[in-house]
Amino acid sequence: MTSVELQSLSKQRRLLVTGGAGFIGSNFAHYWCQHYPNDRVVVLDALTYAGNRRTLIPLDSHSNFRFVQGDICDRPLIDALLQEEAIDTVVHFAAESHVDRSILGPDAFVRTNVVGTFTLLEAFRQHWMSSDRPEDYRFHHVSTDEVYGSLGPHDPAFSETTPYAPNSPYSASKAGSDHLVRAYYHTYGMPTTITNCSNNYGPYHFPEKLIPLMCINILMGKPLPVYGDGQNVRDWLYVEDHCSAIDAVLRRGKVGETYNVGGNNEVKNIDLVQMLCALMNEMAPSLPVKPAESLITFVKDRPGHDRRYAINSSKLQTELGWTPSVTVQEGLRLTVQWFLSHEDWWRPLLSEEYQAYYNKVYA
Ligand code: NAD
Ligand code: DAU
Repeated sequence: MTSVELQSLSKQRRLLVTGGAGFIGSNFAHYWCQHYPNDRVVVLDALTYAGNRRTLIPLDSHSNFRFVQGDICDRPLIDALLQEEAIDTVVHFAAESHVDRSILGPDAFVRTNVVGTFTLLEAFRQHWMSSDRPEDYRFHHVSTDEVYGSLGPHDPAFSETTPYAPNSPYSASKAGSDHLVRAYYHTYGMPTTITNCSNNYGPYHFPEKLIPLMCINILMGKPLPVYGDGQNVRDWLYVEDHCSAIDAVLRRGKVGETYNVGGNNEVKNIDLVQMLCALMNEMAPSLPVKPAESLITFVKDRPGHDRRYAINSSKLQTELGWTPSVTVQEGLRLTVQWFLSHEDWWRPLLSEEYQAYYNKVYA
């Protein structure tokens, strides 16, 4: 039996997906509507600079999909949505997510990531309690490996018991939100789960992040700014594998637990940029500057730049049977192909506002 046939036999789930117009949230909304078409999916998103309504247009024809523009700090709106949509599952992606922006202006990070998460938790607690605390309700919080800080070259990968040591305003605000979620399980018994994931990449990735920025700059013949010595290491995960990990946690995860999600794909930034250049040289029909490697430019380092992230996801793999399905070589090829064929998606995002941000960071 296919997952769609199996699902028609089970209860309809009713999801509130916060931040579902952003990179990972939109991939998750597409994933869920495709795999579980009988479930209700309500996306709540404030459409900040990172939110893109166009990404969700293909879902508008889906009868179980609804988009609501709104802020996770707006308690009356959250209360109304939880009640009128009879939500049983919150999947919480909404956040300010870019480290460089958190260095330029941390305020929005504290507001959305800490106060916004708190607002959602309080609203969901009331909703869950007034429905007689159903056991199948779930508040799932999507977090990051950055809460664990930075690793040395020979340190073991982050596990769920690694102490928190966030280094940027972004990761500190995510750590704060994780602690609140944890407290709501321990204090109120609210059914929560948390995933801490490594760097994602794939379709609908906003241009400010490393992989889309490099793809777009190669296509435009612009310099490829590599911070510092380019030796920082990230553990890359194809976004669809992140979605399937959250699926596994929602279906089989234990409440109150945290699961680390990673691709087991540690790559130095400079090597990753070289891989993207090689793919673009091979796959792009034409490039303004070729070979693309000649655009690589080392620039001033990010303040407080974490040296290395690596995730041990053996808990998720052994307890819930999840495995990533895409290697970094396959995933980068898919991603380059996606950026080559979706200029209509990324070109409008290079707005004046984006250019002003770019000039501040890379001046
Ligand atoms: P993103 O910046 O692409 O998207 C964030 C979305 O949240 C946007 O659509 C934005 O409009 C929305 N949003 C922001 N403030 C809001 C508010 N106050 N109310 C409602 N909506 C609001 O982020 P992303 O990369 O998709 O990350 C999603 C989540 O996953 C975040 O919580 C992030 O911390 C976490 N995460 C990201 C990665 C990664 O590599 N991108 C890795 C691990 C964890
Ligand atoms: O680890 C998970 C985190 O991954 C998420 O929690 C964050 O939301 C997400 O933005 C991402 O954070 P990073 O800071 O690791 O991602 P970013 O794409 O900004 O940078 C990846 C690496 O590349 C990092 O070492 C900084 C470097 N970099 C980045 C940019 C934008 C460059 O060298 N040049 C650049 O222009």
